[in-house]
Amino acid sequence: MAIRDILILPDKRLRLVSEPVKTVDKPLRTLIDDMYETMYAAPGIGLAAIQIGVPQRVVTMDLAKKDDPPEPRLFINPEIVWSSDDASVYEEGCLSIPEYYEEVERPLTVKVRYLDIDLKPQEIEATDLLATCLQHEIDHLNGVLFIDHISKLKRDRVMKKFKKAAKLSGGDKPNSDGLSDDKEPSHHIG
Ligand code: NI
Repeated sequence: MAIRDILILPDKRLRLVSEPVKTVDKPLRTLIDDMYETMYAAPGIGLAAIQIGVPQRVVTMDLAKKDDPPEPRLFINPEIVWSSDDASVYEEGCLSIPEYYEEVERPLTVKVRYLDIDLKPQEIEATDLLATCLQHEIDHLNGVLFIDHISKLKRDRVMKKFKKAAKLSGGDKPNSDGLSDDKEPSHHIG
């Protein structure tokens, strides 16, 4: 297992549309292990494979609270098959857009079809944080970021900030070492 580098805005690979997984082989298992390790280390509650530069439709997640036992979740080729008309607003963040948080309105409840590690079809009805997180991560698989759901004015402002930071650091990610473990992990959606 290895912690991999997380792509940071404005990395163009974050805009790629990821490819469906067709077989579970050793490289895929290694990818999944690395995604969990990278997500827990960040720390984040969700991660899409493209965030570590792999354009495959794989999402890892763990919404367990800090002192509770881990609850790792894996979604292969996840797809939203139903969304509620009721909406909820959640202050989202993203490991690829460190230390930026903004309220995003999304459907409160979604039904998601996905494959498990044996490529067996599964379906989950998710609400609240799980629904928000699933929608955020499935967006990643389609090259969509949470800042696409906020006003153009705010989006332009954050894009400008990250473009400038990338230029200053010669393309490296902005320093995110300031993230404290005491912060609510729910902020770092993934
Ligand atoms: Ni994200």
